[in-house]
Amino acid sequence: MSARGITVRGCGISVPDKVLTNEDLSATLDTSDAWITERTGIKERRVGGITSQMAIEAGRRAIQDAGLEPADIAVVLLATTTPDALVPATSATVQAGIGVPGGAFDLNAACSGFVHGLVAAAGLVAVGSGRVLLIGADALSRITDWDNRTMAVLVGDGAGAVVVEPAEGTGDLLSWNFGADGTLRHLLKCDHGGYLTMDGKEVFRKAVRVVVESAERALADAGFTAADVSLLVPHQANLRIIQAACHRLGIPEERTAVVIDRYGNTSSASIPLALDDALRSGRVSTGDLVLLTGFGGGMTWASALLRWGR
Ligand code: ACO
Repeated sequence: MSARGITVRGCGISVPDKVLTNEDLSATLDTSDAWITERTGIKERRVGGITSQMAIEAGRRAIQDAGLEPADIAVVLLATTTPDALVPATSATVQAGIGVPGGAFDLNAACSGFVHGLVAAAGLVAVGSGRVLLIGADALSRITDWDNRTMAVLVGDGAGAVVVEPAEGTGDLLSWNFGADGTLRHLLKCDHGGYLTMDGKEVFRKAVRVVVESAERALADAGFTAADVSLLVPHQANLRIIQAACHRLGIPEERTAVVIDRYGNTSSASIPLALDDALRSGRVSTGDLVLLTGFGGGMTWASALLRWGR
């Protein structure tokens, strides 16, 4: 068994049809488009999604985008915080729905799940796996109390997927790091059968700090600086968090992927949704340095630096 690198090939997304605008929320909650836009950057979000169904659609699109068939995939790896059920693993439903012949498992690292999944997929490839279909999918609308304006204005549903495949040599993943601090579990949580709750101010403070530290470490470990980054793809929790992190990192917003205005915070799906948007708008070219960085409940955080190879 020889160690192999990875390349990311193919990307696809899926979001529910139902659009919920800030004006819609303002009709039932004591809030306003002006407040939500100024404090979060969100204008609208998609709701009513089912994790497995969105994951199946995004996964199919990623496989098609890569010019492959479901039979070409060895493992389905689903990052999600909102599985359809506690048992079975939602990835198994996705595996059957897409018709992938290989294995399947779920991964939960809250909103940093997709970046954790990318590194886990690279690990699978390194020990001899074939292609991994990596999907980030979440239906936060299902664990949101729609009478609680603090959470309701932030969340949305969606899924994004990529195909991670073996590459010759060291491949395109240049560096990565994970972090966690379980003493902060109270900052952002959802108990069985309950709703999401959070200490927004504290999450905001910690998020900016850990994102900047993690992103800087990933760059330093690969021998680069922020000036070398072609595109930053951060977790989309709040535009102000993204702006603060960009400012501290010294990466201009023009080199940052932002889709929070359209989708809100979609947890595990937010990074692949933003990546897909950047790819489709021609913002990523072969050889570009792409830095993915996420944070979420736990708290957990993770960064991965890719040399874009497709
Ligand atoms: N609409 C209108 N007013 C509101 C709303 C709302 N939705 N929510 C709070 N307010 C009010 C508050 O009551 C407060 O009023 P007061 O000044 O009279 O006391 C005022 O607005 C300011 O409230 P703050 O909590 O100070 O607002 P802040 O600027 O901190 O923004 C926010 C709140 C948007 C939640 C911010 O703290 C944040 O984004 N935190 C991080 C969120 C995050 O990243 N969460 C992780 C993701 S969630 C997940 O992963 C599932």
